[in-house]
Amino acid sequence: MQTVRSIDALRNVLAEYRAEGRTVALVPTMGALHAGHMALIEEARIRADRVIASIFVNPMQFSPSEDLDSYPRREAADVRMLEEAGCDLLWAPTLDVMYPEGFATRIAVSGVTEGLDGAARPGHFDGVATVVSKLFNQVRPDVALFGEKDYQQLLLIRRMVTDLDFGITIIGVPTQRDDDGLALSSRNAYLSPEERSAARALPRALGEAAAAIQKGTPPAAAIAAAIKRLNDAGFDPVDYVELRDAETLELVDTLDREARLLAAAKLGRTRLIDNLAVRPAE
Ligand code: PAF
Repeated sequence: MQTVRSIDALRNVLAEYRAEGRTVALVPTMGALHAGHMALIEEARIRADRVIASIFVNPMQFSPSEDLDSYPRREAADVRMLEEAGCDLLWAPTLDVMYPEGFATRIAVSGVTEGLDGAARPGHFDGVATVVSKLFNQVRPDVALFGEKDYQQLLLIRRMVTDLDFGITIIGVPTQRDDDGLALSSRNAYLSPEERSAARALPRALGEAAAAIQKGTPPAAAIAAAIKRLNDAGFDPVDYVELRDAETLELVDTLDREARLLAAAKLGRTRLIDNLAVRPAE
């Protein structure tokens, strides 16, 4: 697997792929790869002839109080994992390639970015939309793959691709979980052993609330129980546990359509997010 860091080198490889008539899938990442990312690569290999992964820790999506400096960076291990998974090319632009001096553009998607992480992390989704637009323009993939763990991000990218006529098929890949249910995330590496053990309360609280709502418990009551369970396990603060429409992310107070139960909460210094599908009985 080749690693390229300049736009010219990337274009040369892409020109070869196109000359051979190959379709291209892009898996955008910020590195510190885990089995969740490998599931994206695996799905990408099914969807296209050539798979490109990108690694870029995007400063624009971190607020000044967030973990940009401490975000895990381990490119050598990432390269080994990508090679083993059958990735064809790593696109690893440097900061000045991605944001050259004078860079002054921001992409903002409204609607699905309001509330949830859009409220808890002001500016975050503008940073995501901007960097993903740039990655799409740099690689011009046929298909791009994103994890459902970042559900609000997935919906914003779908909206942006439609609105800006990117002509890229967006595939959402189900969340990969550890044996105890915790969603895989690069940020799990921050958890102490005690926090890691307490963290399983997040998928459990969501699973119980989702099951209760599906059985007819009013969403507000199920959500209050989930928040209590998270607080009891040591999560503080709980930024949100909310039931939202699975496509528009509008708030849902009666389960009369496909919904998503989404949560974000902090355990020590680590902010974890998760979500589950909640479907009305047929
Ligand atoms: O989900 C991520 O890892 C990032 O938000 C993304 C999509 C790579 C943009 O930086």
